[in-house]
Amino acid sequence: MSESNPSARGNFASNFGFLMAAVGSAVGLGNIWKFPYITGEYGGGAFVLVYLGCISLVGLPLLYAEVIIGRRGGRDILGALRTLTRQSGRLGTAISYLTGMMAVVASFLMLAFYSVVAGWTVYFFVFSVGAIPGVEFGNPDVFDTMSTTARTATICHTVFMLMTIGVVTLGVHSGIEFLCKTLMPVLFAILAAMLVYVGFTAELGQSLAFLFQPDFSKLGSSAVLEALGHAFFTLSLGMGAMVTYGSYLKEENRVIRDSVAIALLDTAVALLAGAVIFAVVFAKEGLEPSAGPGLLFRTLPALFVEMPGGRFVAAVFFGLVVFAAWSSAISLLEVNVAYAVDEFKLPRWVAAGGIGLCVWGLGVACAIGVTVGEVTLQDGLDDLVSRYLLPIGGLLIAIAAGWFVLPADSLSGFSHLPRIGHSLGIAWRFLIRFVTPVLVSVVILWQVGAFDAWLKAEEPPAIREGELADPMNE
Ligand code: PHE
Repeated sequence: MSESNPSARGNFASNFGFLMAAVGSAVGLGNIWKFPYITGEYGGGAFVLVYLGCISLVGLPLLYAEVIIGRRGGRDILGALRTLTRQSGRLGTAISYLTGMMAVVASFLMLAFYSVVAGWTVYFFVFSVGAIPGVEFGNPDVFDTMSTTARTATICHTVFMLMTIGVVTLGVHSGIEFLCKTLMPVLFAILAAMLVYVGFTAELGQSLAFLFQPDFSKLGSSAVLEALGHAFFTLSLGMGAMVTYGSYLKEENRVIRDSVAIALLDTAVALLAGAVIFAVVFAKEGLEPSAGPGLLFRTLPALFVEMPGGRFVAAVFFGLVVFAAWSSAISLLEVNVAYAVDEFKLPRWVAAGGIGLCVWGLGVACAIGVTVGEVTLQDGLDDLVSRYLLPIGGLLIAIAAGWFVLPADSLSGFSHLPRIGHSLGIAWRFLIRFVTPVLVSVVILWQVGAFDAWLKAEEPPAIREGELADPMNE
């Protein structure tokens, strides 16, 4: 059980508060920015189907593992794992230390570049509410100018970091829980309203067909691996966010139900956001859904201005994106703050301010375009965290939960379920011990390029011939 005094570290006052905070962490730029553009790139329906499979088979078991580790350990990720793997001797301690430190470092690094992208959404929100002198709203070049102008990008990142630090300083109950309980229902309401709006003004039918009619011809192995990687990112797995939130839970009898609810709500937001965005894209003749990362910031504002009440709709939409990013960033900072508070007994405000300041500094380096070798720090960090640290963190958590934590702890969330609880628990343990580690290892191997030769051979002949004929590729 918990080593520290639980009331001093804070608690969620209600289960609903925990649920909204966890959904707030899960629903973020991954849902509104990344999911639509990768779905667009991989051709829609078939990708969505694979993604749903990844969420259920890998995402959900890992999500439960993280929450129950936090709940039973009652501390930050490192402390919780250390407590729960105590009986496993040195190996247990080593795994706990490695997993915990990776999570703390990964969430620190991730917050730096996440905040820069979130800063862009703040800019677009402010821009759609009021004018910015000399800049025309809806001009697709605005995004490039803004994101590459060091001063603008830095100011936006600073504003966003201050918002994040402010809430975390206020504490688990008065800050995080209060904000998420207020914001998340608003976010759902906005999304529902946007769906109705595009139902009248844009091509919702075409958009839904694109998302839900599977065309398996566009689906290769890389789409499957991309879907698996994204399942981690979108459920905030692999870096201790859900462990940390779980540690502020009072009871574990709803952990299963909550994990399912978090995964369902997160998926619902991704699909709704996709439906809205593609409906707008399809409304314009000749536009392709595969516009890439620029979909949200270049394509959408240009389309919004042409729609009835477009400026207002744009403001509401970017407000929603800011909310989503804010509640995710809060959970990233909280991983570090919980670590500092629990392990080093720092006062919360010192931890939030101090760590926030360091993250801010790294974010400024990203915002002003510092490069490391050939790549920008922003892209380099994104790559390092999303492609490597996150899946490795997930693998370690699965191993710790499946092999080192006692079943009495790891299965405690199942014991409250009537009848099926026992069999579900066995199924979960099988997934987390064998299936999750294997699948996640495949993703990691894919990221390091272990399957490159094989994937190339798998591509349709037309592409390969085209490549060979292209002198640039030789
Ligand atoms: N789940 C968030 C998103 O979809 C990102 C995130 C990952 C947040 C890990 C916290 C921890 O944007």
